[in-house]
Amino acid sequence: MSLPPLPRLGFVGAGRLAHCLAHGFSRAGYPVTAIASRSRDSAQTLAGQIGHCAAYDHPQQVVDAADIVFLAVPDDSIGTTAHTVRFDSAAQGCSGAWALVHCSGASPVDLLAPARDQGALIGGFHPLYLFGGNLADIERIAGCSVSIEADGALKDALVALAGALRCHPLSIPPGGRMLYHAAAHYAASFALCGLAECVELWRTLGFNEDDALRAVLPMLAGTIQTAGDKGLPGALAGPVSRGDTSVVEKQLALLEGLGGDHAALYALMTRRAVALARRRPVPPAAIDAIDTVVENSLARSLDRLTGQGSQAARKP
Ligand SMILES: NC(=O)c1ccc[n+]([C@@H]2O[C@H](COP(=O)([O-])OP(=O)(O)OC[C@H]3O[C@@H](n4cnc5c(N)ncnc54)[C@H](OP(=O)(O)O)[C@@H]3O)[C@@H](O)[C@H]2O)c1
Repeated sequence: MSLPPLPRLGFVGAGRLAHCLAHGFSRAGYPVTAIASRSRDSAQTLAGQIGHCAAYDHPQQVVDAADIVFLAVPDDSIGTTAHTVRFDSAAQGCSGAWALVHCSGASPVDLLAPARDQGALIGGFHPLYLFGGNLADIERIAGCSVSIEADGALKDALVALAGALRCHPLSIPPGGRMLYHAAAHYAASFALCGLAECVELWRTLGFNEDDALRAVLPMLAGTIQTAGDKGLPGALAGPVSRGDTSVVEKQLALLEGLGGDHAALYALMTRRAVALARRRPVPPAAIDAIDTVVENSLARSLDRLTGQGSQAARKP
């Protein structure tokens, strides 16, 4: 099976990811011909921005008007959408090469099996990027990686499409999709959760969220650059990197005093900091002492949280 060198591209779903990909592919010269979404408005808005692109009401109309169709819908809708479309080369008026691709990092490509059973190529195209839904994404995605799961002609086409976005193709070992995606959260949404914890703690000092983010976002940006320059152990700063046991001890005591899970979260992150510090050519002399302080605090926090948990009714 072969695909045209410039395949016609279609999208089902017109949300954050579809906005970036549809614009990015179109700017790179690919014909983005058809878009459908749950609501007609979303499809029309995106199609109108692209130009020479039709907005449709049903995914089937996208399949009939494109060579490669990207399912850019929430993960829970991938399987049901794949079941609703039919691949019919006579109706599509092409030589018999067409493909259905989803963009999820966590969901298996096998969700698209109904399309494969009708002769379509199937694949996964997962950009490692947190899409904000605005046009700035098209520039910012350059240099990112896209995990591609496909064979033969579709793999070649998806690698070329990743290149059109100025991204690097990446492949995941078979069966590794769920772990790969779970781990990638630490470089995206969980980084936001770390910032949210900082904001929450700073609120007790009278800062609002805007003030706190203005203060710490440049620090995060610098940290990311230093990580790229020096690697993770080399970039590590803070009390663990210096072997300041008493600072770690006092901060854990303070957070334990605040209640909730603040101390447990800090202790778990500090565990990772200890592991990074141990990877340095010369770890801080106090690293074992810090380790003990952290593990003792974590045990106290988990005892308290578990005690609270066993008293509280489980959520249904
Ligand atoms: N956001 C990210 O950072 C990111 C990164 C990598 C991969 N992904 C993957 O990309 C996919 C899309 O995510 P997203 O963040 O772009 O989601 P999103 O912003 O929530 O957009 C989802 C789009 O799908 C449409 N939709 C929902 N249910 C539908 C259905 N049953 N049929 C047709 N259209 C439907 C929505 O419709 P309406 O607008 O019409 O209401 C919306 O336009 C997911 O598989 C996700 O895992 C996302």
